[in-house]
Amino acid sequence: MLPTNFIPAHSRRLATVIAAYVLVTTWAPLHSQLLVNAADVPIPASRIDTISQTVLAAVPGALTHSSDDNSNSDVGSGYVPAFDYFDRSLLGRQEAQEPPSEELKDNGLAKKEIKPGETLYFVLKRSQSRLIRSGDDALEGQEAQGGSNASGDTTDAKDVIAEVDGDDKGGTLGKRQAGNRVWVSANTCRQPAANGSETPKDRPQLVMYVSTSSKNQRPGPEITDNLVPPVPFDQGFASIDVNTTSDVYIGISAPLLSKDWDGSWSFHVAASVDGPYHSYNATNPFLYMIDTDSESALFITYNLSEPNSTDSNKWKERNPFSMYAFEVGDQSAITGMERSLCALRDLYSNSTLNSTTTITTKFGANIPKSQFHIQGLKNGTMYNGFLTVEGGNDVVRLPGGGVVRAGGMVFQNFTWTTKADDSCQVLFDLKFCDSVAYAVPSSSNFTRDDERLKKLYDEEAEKYYTNFTRSLAQVACDTASDAQYSLARTCENCAQDYKNWLCSVLIPRCENWSANDEWLQERNVNALLPDGSDTFGGNVSDAIKEEKRDRFAYSKSRNPLIDTEIKPGPYKEMKPCEDLCFDIVRSCPAQLGFACPNNPVMRALSYGKRDPEEKELKCNFPGAVVKLNVQGAAGSLVVRGQVAVLVAMLVGVFGWL
Ligand SMILES: *[C@@H]1O[C@H](CO)[C@@H](O)[C@H](O)[C@H]1NC(C)=O
Ligand SMILES: *[C@@H]1O[C@H](CO)[C@@H](O)[C@H](O)[C@H]1NC(C)=O
Ligand SMILES: *[C@@H]1O[C@H](CO)[C@@H](O)[C@H](O)[C@H]1NC(C)=O
Ligand SMILES: *[C@@H]1O[C@H](CO)[C@@H](O)[C@H](O)[C@H]1NC(C)=O
Ligand SMILES: *[C@@H]1O[C@H](CO)[C@@H](O)[C@H](O)[C@H]1NC(C)=O
Ligand SMILES: *[C@@H]1O[C@H](CO)[C@@H](O)[C@H](O)[C@H]1NC(C)=O
Ligand SMILES: *[C@@H]1O[C@H](CO)[C@@H](O)[C@H](O)[C@H]1NC(C)=O
Ligand SMILES: *[C@@H]1O[C@H](CO)[C@@H](O)[C@H](O)[C@H]1NC(C)=O
Ligand SMILES: *[C@@H]1O[C@H](CO)[C@@H](O)[C@H](O)[C@H]1NC(C)=O
Ligand SMILES: *[C@@H]1O[C@H](CO)[C@@H](O)[C@H](O)[C@H]1NC(C)=O
Ligand SMILES: *[C@@H]1O[C@H](CO)[C@@H](O)[C@H](O)[C@H]1NC(C)=O
Ligand SMILES: *[C@@H]1O[C@H](CO)[C@@H](O)[C@H](O)[C@H]1NC(C)=O
Repeated sequence: MLPTNFIPAHSRRLATVIAAYVLVTTWAPLHSQLLVNAADVPIPASRIDTISQTVLAAVPGALTHSSDDNSNSDVGSGYVPAFDYFDRSLLGRQEAQEPPSEELKDNGLAKKEIKPGETLYFVLKRSQSRLIRSGDDALEGQEAQGGSNASGDTTDAKDVIAEVDGDDKGGTLGKRQAGNRVWVSANTCRQPAANGSETPKDRPQLVMYVSTSSKNQRPGPEITDNLVPPVPFDQGFASIDVNTTSDVYIGISAPLLSKDWDGSWSFHVAASVDGPYHSYNATNPFLYMIDTDSESALFITYNLSEPNSTDSNKWKERNPFSMYAFEVGDQSAITGMERSLCALRDLYSNSTLNSTTTITTKFGANIPKSQFHIQGLKNGTMYNGFLTVEGGNDVVRLPGGGVVRAGGMVFQNFTWTTKADDSCQVLFDLKFCDSVAYAVPSSSNFTRDDERLKKLYDEEAEKYYTNFTRSLAQVACDTASDAQYSLARTCENCAQDYKNWLCSVLIPRCENWSANDEWLQERNVNALLPDGSDTFGGNVSDAIKEEKRDRFAYSKSRNPLIDTEIKPGPYKEMKPCEDLCFDIVRSCPAQLGFACPNNPVMRALSYGKRDPEEKELKCNFPGAVVKLNVQGAAGSLVVRGQVAVLVAMLVGVFGWL
């Protein structure tokens, strides 16, 4: 808690701390008492006039009156500060409608409503900052002592302060205190709605004003002296940090609305000396898409741990991640508040979408990731997604150094488009083919019945695998190493590689018929499209028959079960990556007779090649993910397949791969 540069080196420094503490604790009640007096006790009118005129004459710009609590010049006499304050309260009366500044606690949240044209004021007292609070247990007793000693005699404290401030001018103390860094951040939780059917482009945003000078305790659009540059909210988020030795004054101001808009705002504001309370992370979406179908989508976060880290379990105990999704559109309710966690949360609470969040260690290296399954989406629709860290009492540390405090973090938004029809369905968490997590060929009979479809595919794969292990058992795998078929590869490698390959071939990765990435392979082309029409615009010419309709690679699925039991419409397949085939040939004993198609044309009908730049997913492999927000990457996925005439051999143990 205690910054190392602040441990008092000698007693004089300590006295500084005590004195500052005393000043704050003893002066605050004194001020409010005077304020009460000013409001309640009748004062002869002539006297008010005199005082006001004196002050107004003396101060250029009546509202930026000089009465710096921390400046030494006034403190000595004892009367002047009271006098000053008295004047200020009189001036304050002239704007009597304005509410008083609300005092913020360090790391405390203020939730407010604000009307167009209004400005609300907040203050983080110096007493809330670490410099004064000090946080050192050893100091606390002494501070308390000093406090009680001084409480009967404020002059003592003032004297010390005067001395300290004198020092400050000399510069040494100023440097020491300059490390007092304060973060102020805010979120818009609700915004005015469009007044009428058209929603204009630019959403009116709130503006945050911050002053660290007691000369401007009500920073806002009118009182701009001593301001740090105003911070307009950006998509519902504002954040700034200042280095200061004084109280921090905050104004949140709402613009006047044109007739295009109607309503008011609500917002959250917080100040902290530890770091930003609310945060927005523009680095990346921190999320991969696994796949989407016509009504759901599956996502995972980036790795949450280093490969061999021991903190895997902590994410299971508390998963701080959430994902929110909104339909993209000009009328989207979230537009203008995309960086605000409270807005995302509030608006999503009304959503008909269903999110299921879990921690998974799939998709590479057994490292924990948060997984989101969003259901209830509309087909063929573009959605905006947002990953957030919800925040809470404990600070969340992200891999890569991000720190999330109580107000949470919103990551860069991303978009994806759901598939148009029911030919593909996202499956994951299969029992046997446990690395399958993508859209597979399906039909409306299986929509919203993932379990039945999973069972169908999984049990088939397991049967093939059982036959394979029988064959493998006949090969001398587990004999002494000199008799082994390869020093580098074992039968375990062979079995694993076969399983990866088998699951990818039997459970193809599916894409809509309407997708047209060149690496996709058309399948089942003679079935009817969802709207009842024929593929290729009904073209049944000899040419298209020869090229596609009569060729098994196009007219059938590589796995016969798909054609007989599942009966999808025409679909496209993102073929398994060719390295899955090469891997088995390399790993498995030659006696098993595995080989990959040599003919490039044949191979291209069965296997895909990885994108050398690794930007886009061009073929399927276990743990494949879709990168979001990658420049040049299409929003859609791709799959493709194999020569169906060879199906029996392809998946048979001794056939072609
Ligand atoms: C007040 O301060 C004096 C020395 O300045 C010290 O001896 C005394 O214990 C303090 N009194 C209290 C009540 O802490
Ligand atoms: C405040 O001080 C810290 C460290 O001294 C520095 O890193 C930071 O940039 C400063 N912030 C501002 C707004 O000046
Ligand atoms: C909304 O629009 C109507 C018609 O343009 C206008 O009369 C009304 O004043 C507007 N409301 C607000 C709050 O601006
Ligand atoms: C997680 O880390 C592993 C090992 O570093 C890497 O192979 C894998 O691609 C990463 N997965 C994700 C989703 O980032
Ligand atoms: C993780 O541990 C495994 C075995 O315990 C080791 O082979 C691997 O090199 C380690 N990886 C890292 C990044 O330390
Ligand atoms: C949720 O929907 C109800 C009914 O349509 C509406 O009154 C309410 O304002 C909505 N809440 C939010 C946060 O949009
Ligand atoms: C969301 O999931 C719950 C539990 O699985 C289910 O009862 C509910 O009907 C689902 N809602 C929607 C909109 O899908
Ligand atoms: C969504 O599906 C319906 C039928 O299920 C279809 O009529 C409609 O065209 C689809 N929407 C899009 C955008 O593809
Ligand atoms: C944003 O998140 C990334 C993790 O992808 C992290 O490395 C980075 O430090 C974060 N940035 C901020 C400002 O928190
Ligand atoms: C999404 O983020 C991009 C920057 O990555 C930004 O240009 C865009 O305006 C954002 N869109 C929405 C709807 O938030
Ligand atoms: C859907 O299931 C029903 C009953 O099980 C069956 O009669 C029908 O043919 C199936 N439809 C398709 C397209 O498979
Ligand atoms: C497994 O082998 C048995 C016996 O050879 C055979 O009858 C069965 O069809 C095979 N199953 C598969 C899925 O290949």
